[in-house]
Amino acid sequence: MEAYEAQWNKAKDQPEVFWSAIAAHFQWKKPWNKVLEWNFEEPCIRWFEGAQLNITENCLDRHLDSIGDQAALVWEPNDPSEPFQSLSYRELHQEVETAAAMLRMHGIKKGDRVCIYLPMVPELAIAVMACARVGAIHSVVFGGFSAQSIADRINDAQCNLVICSDGAFRGSKTIPMKSTVDDALDRCPSVNKVLVLTRSRSAVSMIKTRDFWWKEEFEKAKEKRAELGYAEVMEAEDPLFILYTSGSTGKPKGVVHTTAGYMVWANYTFVNAFQFQPGDVHFCTADIGWITGHSYILYGPLSAGATSLMFEGVPSWPDARRFWQIVEKHRVQLFYTAPTAIRSLMGSPYRPSENDLSSLRVLGSVGEPINETAWQWYKDEVGGGRLPITDTWWQTETGGIMICPIPGITPEKPGKATLPLPGIVPVLFNEKGEELHALQSSGNLCIKAPWPGMLRTTWGDHERCKNTYFSAYPGNYFTGDGCERDADGYYKITGRVDDVLNVSGHRIGTAELENAINQFTDVVESAVVGYPHEIKGQGIYAFVILNRTPEDPALIKQDILATVSRLIGPIAKPDEILFVEALPKTRSGKIMRRILRKIAEGQPEAIGDTSTLLDPDVVKAILEASQNKP
Ligand code: PRX
Repeated sequence: MEAYEAQWNKAKDQPEVFWSAIAAHFQWKKPWNKVLEWNFEEPCIRWFEGAQLNITENCLDRHLDSIGDQAALVWEPNDPSEPFQSLSYRELHQEVETAAAMLRMHGIKKGDRVCIYLPMVPELAIAVMACARVGAIHSVVFGGFSAQSIADRINDAQCNLVICSDGAFRGSKTIPMKSTVDDALDRCPSVNKVLVLTRSRSAVSMIKTRDFWWKEEFEKAKEKRAELGYAEVMEAEDPLFILYTSGSTGKPKGVVHTTAGYMVWANYTFVNAFQFQPGDVHFCTADIGWITGHSYILYGPLSAGATSLMFEGVPSWPDARRFWQIVEKHRVQLFYTAPTAIRSLMGSPYRPSENDLSSLRVLGSVGEPINETAWQWYKDEVGGGRLPITDTWWQTETGGIMICPIPGITPEKPGKATLPLPGIVPVLFNEKGEELHALQSSGNLCIKAPWPGMLRTTWGDHERCKNTYFSAYPGNYFTGDGCERDADGYYKITGRVDDVLNVSGHRIGTAELENAINQFTDVVESAVVGYPHEIKGQGIYAFVILNRTPEDPALIKQDILATVSRLIGPIAKPDEILFVEALPKTRSGKIMRRILRKIAEGQPEAIGDTSTLLDPDVVKAILEASQNKP
């Protein structure tokens, strides 16, 4: 603990000294002139200015002499009867060089944007790294998003090329991918090439001069690997990737991470938050379509020389033993998953200890607050009561882990993310914008100073970045999360304080979802709120006004769900829909979500004062409707 405290103080007091020492461990083509320049007003954040590098040389090339034959990626397929694959650092390096050559043969160059829409197969990792190798900015879109969502993301970033697969396997289902991309591309004039990987070998349409089979192009690129597989020279602050995430307004925003700072942060947090040791197998159960996969399947573990395990399937198929079987089969040391997965497995008849979990050393949690019951089950049933749990709080925007216990060092408290990593200075503010200095406080969580992995901008709209993160509490980065700090200075993140829901660890903007519901022909208006959900953490409750009394309400609900699936994706489907005549609004026309939340939570007695409503009787009518709900 003393060493941790010393490091934390050093990073706070002398950030440039601290981070230049850490950065010295990487491979640079040219060193930096200045470690850090920043102001949070514009905002302008520049780390390692003047340095040149390529992140893939740090993740691949520099390991070849020391651990070239060690597995870099182990891939466990959806179907356990299909053989797993293992790619050594040497093999992965070759594949990435070949894929980089393939991209260059298709005209991709530094600064171009490439959209990747793939299932969790090794080619996804290869495609992402190949983009980074040629300096193209990758925009990975999670495989569960709809054609409309893909199109919005492609158009916002003006991508030239898309990499997708014919289909995907998820549990017992085969899901179309290329046809979804085809629907998106009808609306995306910037895209002129599509590389199609075969995974499910489903029938797909292939358009001459636009669509190419990955396999064939990859074969052709092999000859060009030496010539065209080289690592592009990147400036420290060149963008590495865009990742879209939901906010409180209708349109998802493209969070931009740059090269050097992100690399240093992903690596530093991986090594410290998991207490990585050479030879460790790290199993992060997230999808590469989310930031967790970017930082802790790819860039963090690979830059550290770990063996990263990638899993294509779901925790519940063929049955709820799957995670534990994988841990046993691949002798996993570091296991990183989400509370929602833990809660869903808690109810299963299988006990994790039926599998040999003796290889495990550290357990991690991410994505949402972990309730104490789930924490304790994780500790006892998976960790045998002895393994440390690191409850890691962070965000797409932060690039890597921010607040977490250092396993085996920080004394744990169930449900608390505990203390900030070195480099992170959390502060709490009240609603009036006053900083809360008392140790024991509860307020809105901000970060006072820059860290290497923080977002630099939102793609194409710097003003939006400034307004969303740097305006609410001037001079600070605002996280959007509520937080409690206890007498030991431990942080417990309590959830979003803006109109963003966290459903099974996925961020869903209520405004975006309402826009989608309102597109349904018969809908006049809607309001969406979250409510506590046993497995998902938060469930989605939609209050909907229709323009007529439905003949078959159940069918209309199905239609609304289909509309949401089509416009956003199945992950945003409401759990509950209640048809109402009117919504509770203030005299200025603002929906009183607080009231709807109480109704959704089944706590009408806690609704409180309704006198500021335009029509207080509306609440009575909604309550009646909710009580008579079929
Ligand atoms: O509300 C916090 C919650 O997830 C949000 C970030 O979501 P996203 O950008 O999708 O990234 C998820 C993976 C890092 C945060 O604003 N969150 C994430 N981790 C935790 C958490 N809430 C409580 N405890 C956590 N450990």
